[in-house]
Amino acid sequence: MTKPKVFITRRIPDAGLSLIYDACEVDLWDKDLPPSKEELLQYVPGVDGILSLLSDPIDSDVIQAAGDKLRVISNYAVGYNNIDIREATQRKIAVGNTPGVLTDATADFAFSLMMSAGRRVVEAEKHVRAGKWKTWGPSTLLGVDFAGATLGIIGFGRIGKAMARRATGFGMRILIYDPTAQAMAEIIKVDLDTLYRESDFISIHTPLTPETKHMINAAAFARMKSNVVLVNTARGEIVDQEALYDALKNHRIFAAGIDVSDPEPLPMDSPLLELDNLIICPHIASASTSTRENMALIAAGNLLAGLKGERLPFSVNPEIYN
Ligand code: NAP
Ligand code: GLV
Ligand code: GLV
Repeated sequence: MTKPKVFITRRIPDAGLSLIYDACEVDLWDKDLPPSKEELLQYVPGVDGILSLLSDPIDSDVIQAAGDKLRVISNYAVGYNNIDIREATQRKIAVGNTPGVLTDATADFAFSLMMSAGRRVVEAEKHVRAGKWKTWGPSTLLGVDFAGATLGIIGFGRIGKAMARRATGFGMRILIYDPTAQAMAEIIKVDLDTLYRESDFISIHTPLTPETKHMINAAAFARMKSNVVLVNTARGEIVDQEALYDALKNHRIFAAGIDVSDPEPLPMDSPLLELDNLIICPHIASASTSTRENMALIAAGNLLAGLKGERLPFSVNPEIYN
């Protein structure tokens, strides 16, 4: 029996990759940098399955170029805004993601960005290396407090809830904004205005959708407290980056910690990189060894199930099974 043909857009951990090699004829894009759109269009024709990364635009052009054999797109991420779900669903192509296994790693990282930005850890470290540490100063590098402060969580799904569990341990009051989530013990569901008005920290955990794109804009910053610390580990496009720059530069807000930007990577001439009150990381919130292995196992499981015509263990368009 001929093996199904798959295109894998980057080397993922062996735990998952070896399962795919056992069952498929594999074309692996084995470079450090992603395939360009043109390269994707060149590699996908005739494949039965694609394993993609969040940085690969699997848009209608790519899906159409793949052709009628394409049965499954397995994204190595929980977010799937890089895939044209409507096009895939119309063509009954199953799309999978990797929820759950990266929840704790991502919340850990969001929390560490929140603490590092609030207590100016990166700035303080640079201060030492620049030879500016002359003495212990009563007013040197002052930051903000966590105990008793209010954390506003936008998007109370898996990662938002994990963030709340961590914040509870730090003695924080928690507000959530999420149209469909339920309030829970000690966690107060509010409208967005109240969240902006009362939060000392705001952490974003929604997917990128037409509704959340540029949700955090100049009008939102204008409603926030001036000592607020903003954390974004969700997607860069949720924040209007020019408005973020203005808010940080003019000290409309205290600081921000972002793991995601628009675009990615952030160009080296971005004015954001001149700001001391911004910590930026290169989209690494899920980057722990075991988390990435578990993501590889799930992505491989989704791919192989889709190739066999079985329901994906983690499907983002289950309506194709109706
Ligand atoms: P999730 O469990 O689906 O949680 C997302 C929550 O946001 C859901 O409760 C959802 O409600 C809610 N939501 C949707 N639209 C909203 C809106 N307009 N306003 C407020 N809340 C809204 O997803 P997750 O596993 O927590 O992941 C969240 C996102 O984090 C992913 O989509 C991904 O983009 C990002 N992420 C980034 C990294 C990283 O490396 N930086 C790692 C993992 C995840 P409904 O369910 O009702 O739609
Ligand atoms: C990472 O950003 C993910 O969506 O898994
Ligand atoms: C600081 O090091 C202190 O002892 O308060």
